[in-house]
Amino acid sequence: MKDIMTAPFMVEMIRTCTNMYAHGWDERNGGNISLMLEEEDVKEYGDTSRVLRTIPTGFEAPALDGKYFLVTGTGKYFKNVQYAPDVNLGLVKIIDGGKNAQLLWGFSDGGKFTSEFPAHMMSHAVRISVNPANRVVMHCHPTNLLAMTYVHTLDEKAFTRTLWQMCTECIVVFPDGVNVLPWMLCGTNEIGEATAEKMKTARLVVWAQHGLYGAGVDLDEAFGLIETAEKAAEIYMKIAGLPLVNTITDEQMHLLEGRFGVKAREGYLS
Ligand code: 13P
Ligand code: ZN
Repeated sequence: MKDIMTAPFMVEMIRTCTNMYAHGWDERNGGNISLMLEEEDVKEYGDTSRVLRTIPTGFEAPALDGKYFLVTGTGKYFKNVQYAPDVNLGLVKIIDGGKNAQLLWGFSDGGKFTSEFPAHMMSHAVRISVNPANRVVMHCHPTNLLAMTYVHTLDEKAFTRTLWQMCTECIVVFPDGVNVLPWMLCGTNEIGEATAEKMKTARLVVWAQHGLYGAGVDLDEAFGLIETAEKAAEIYMKIAGLPLVNTITDEQMHLLEGRFGVKAREGYLS
């Protein structure tokens, strides 16, 4: 057996948590990540039939039956993942149609997966139906996007258009835009279902007054999506309240669509 600490998925997960903390997106235990893995990815790093514990999930997700997830632990600090991965991360296998998760590695202090497991798993189920290559769901608390939800309308089209107008490459990186949920109680199946519903049409979902969800084919893509949206929100927060003299016009956005081969969300550009 190879050492799981040398697995590319583990190395990348630890680097990503460390980097997200460094960006200020994950204060204290804020934020959580789940990375979907296949049996082939994990079998050379451990005996997948050796179950440490079985943890009930409190929901169903039949589409994920038999899938493996490397996931951050509830109450754990991203800051500490690099120093004690086996305490702060866990590798689980989803069984019983999503009702239970078998712990195969990690959460060595008796911990369990993030309280946002419902939102993660339900979002994974939706995203793989939209794009079978999707592997990552990432949640964090980026400062400027959060700030924006206090001063900008939460209308999804308006919110998306504002972000697109803040940096030229936004429309290229997230042509599907951002969807927005109003404030809801976090850590519940209800917010999980609502997030998954929003994930049908966009890979970024804002939780007003809380944070952001991003989905992607790998950790880099999900990180890059969040990074780009957060940069746009930072620019918005710098200029909001100042007289707007220039912007990126819809005509220019259409030029970007042509140049980069992307299609903006239907009905979002004039
Ligand atoms: P967890 O510590 O349970 O992952 O929760 C952090 C968080 O950001 C809740 O939304
Ligand atoms: Zn959160």
